[in-house]
This record gives sequence, structure tokens and C-alpha cells, in this order.
Amino acid sequence: MKVERKCKIISKEWLNPDAVFLVLEVGDMVRTSFRAPGQFVHIKCGDGLLLRRPISVCSCMEDKPDDLLSIIFEVRGEGTEWLANRPVGHSVDVLGLAGNGFSMKPEGRYLLVGGGIGVPPMMGCAQYSGGKSTAIVGFRSKDKAILLPQLEDSCAKVLIATDDGSLGYHGFVDALVRQELAEDSHYDAVLACGPKLMLRNVAKAAEEFGVPCQVSMEERMGCGVGACLVCACDMADGSRKHVCKDGPVFDSKEVDWDV
Ligand SMILES: Cc1cc2nc3c(=O)[nH]c(=O)nc-3n(C[C@H](O)[C@H](O)[C@H](O)COP(=O)(O)OP(=O)(O)OC[C@H]3O[C@@H](n4cnc5c(N)ncnc54)[C@H](O)[C@@H]3O)c2cc1C
Ligand code: FES
Repeated sequence: MKVERKCKIISKEWLNPDAVFLVLEVGDMVRTSFRAPGQFVHIKCGDGLLLRRPISVCSCMEDKPDDLLSIIFEVRGEGTEWLANRPVGHSVDVLGLAGNGFSMKPEGRYLLVGGGIGVPPMMGCAQYSGGKSTAIVGFRSKDKAILLPQLEDSCAKVLIATDDGSLGYHGFVDALVRQELAEDSHYDAVLACGPKLMLRNVAKAAEEFGVPCQVSMEERMGCGVGACLVCACDMADGSRKHVCKDGPVFDSKEVDWDV
């Protein structure tokens, strides 16, 4: 059950000039609404703005008296800029945990693939699978890289790609996904979050090796509760699904990648 809470910011760190890491005290939100890694919170970003902004849960933890939840977001526009300027000690209005998350088992072993600001939810997946999974993460350049030490601590293996070759493999993550699956395709699933083009290429690579793949779709959102169609995503069977209500995670074979 989704809940709405005033949540206190208890720590804040700029990871690079665009990305902010926040830890929030969220009352009993994790205890009451955690379903799986890959869920998101919907945060009211400013008094004047009508719409909430969806941000993926990076990691979360049940605690007393308040559960803890961390998010990482990039400043893109008015809403995220407002949020980035909130000081430690201030409270924000958070609705969550929303969405379905990745279908995973704690005893499973997964190939986790994150691109840019799609990397944070992979951290939750890594922790949930207890250090057995492999992470493949991609960034535009070395100075945009986030969460690498944390992923090293929570995964059996971490492979890195950058678009400009300034760190790790020079190129896109799907090449590393193919390389990894050629060596070892005994993963329960490939789980991916990032730009749509990346998701499409990762889904294709997983399909080539016969490994199931789930993708987290990041469409723009309006109402966040399935009432406005802003977040509609085209499905392979011709239907349209709401990313906010039916997703954000879908089986990659469900999605129409050609639109
Ligand atoms: C399920 C979900 C999870 C998300 N998780 C994260 C996260 O963990 N970290 C993070 O940094 N961002 C995440 N996002 C994206 C984030 O919600 C947007 O960046 C944010 O809403 C932008 O709000 P704004 O008011 O700052 O910018 P706006 O003024 O609303 O927009 C600024 C620019 O960003 C573009 N934009 C806005 N939303 C999106 C989107 N969803 N996809 C692509 N382009 C968009 C706009 O078209 C515009 O060009 C997520 C989105 C979804 C749907
Ligand atoms: S955001 Fe309104 S239907 Fe999903």
C-alpha cells in the first residue's frame, strides 16, 4: 500500500556537479510498501509545481522509529533543482513506495545493467541478491560515474563502460552484456535501467543468449496514479500500459521497441 509522508532529509551529498544523493527518514514506508527493488518514490518538488517527480529508490532499510531510504537524482529542470536545494533537516512530501519493481528472488543471481542515472536502482537489486550478482554500468564519462565503490562491495563482479573511454571499456554497456553472457549465461535474469535505446540493445543481447530480461522504463509522468496517460508505454501486443501503475518494470518481451 502506497503511503504519503513528510520525510526528513538526514544527509545530502553532491556526487558530481549534476547528481545529488539524499537519505530520507520515511516513517514506516518501507515496512508498509516495499515489494521489490526497482520501485520509485513520487516527490512533491516545490509549492508552485502541481506535479510530483518520480525518482527510483536506490536502497532502503527497515528501521525504528523511521525506515531509511536513499535516492540519487540528476538536476534536469525546475523540480529536481528545487529538490537539490533542500538542506539537511528539511522535510519533503513523499508518496511511495510506488510501482512494481523487479521480479527477483533473494537466492537468485542476476546480471544488473545500469546506464547513467539508471544505475541507482541497480544498487538495491545488488543488495537484495546478497552479493552474488554481476553489475555492468555505463556512464558518459569518468566524471559522471556514481556508486562504483558501493557496487564493488555488493556484487561479485563490476564491469564499467564509458562513452568516451575515460574509464573502463570504451563503448556502450550492451557490448559488455554480450561479452559477459558469452562467458557465463547462467543468470536468472538480466535486469536493466537506463535510457530507452540502451534498454532496447540490452534486451536484444539477453534474447540472443536466451536469458530472461526485465527493463525499468523511464517515461515522463503526470498524475503518477494511472489517470492521465502521460506515462503510456506501447506494448508489443498493441496495447498501452501505464509506467506509473503497471510498471515501471516490464518483461522486455512485452515492450514494443520499434516506436
Ligand atoms: C520510474 C522513474 C524513475 C526515475 N528515477 C530517477 C532517478 O532515480 N534519478 C533521476 O535523476 N531521475 C529519475 N527519473 C527521471 C526524473 O523523474 C526526471 O528527471 C524529473 O522528473 C525531471 O523533473 P524536473 O522538474 O527537474 O525537470 P522537467 O522540467 O520536468 O524536465 C527537464 C527535462 O527533462 C526531461 N525529462 C523529464 N522527465 C523525464 C523522464 N522521465 N525521462 C526522460 N526525460 C525526462 C524533460 O523532457 C525536459 O527536457 C525517473 C523517472 C521515472 C519515470
Ligand atoms: S502518470 Fe498519469 S497515468 Fe501514469
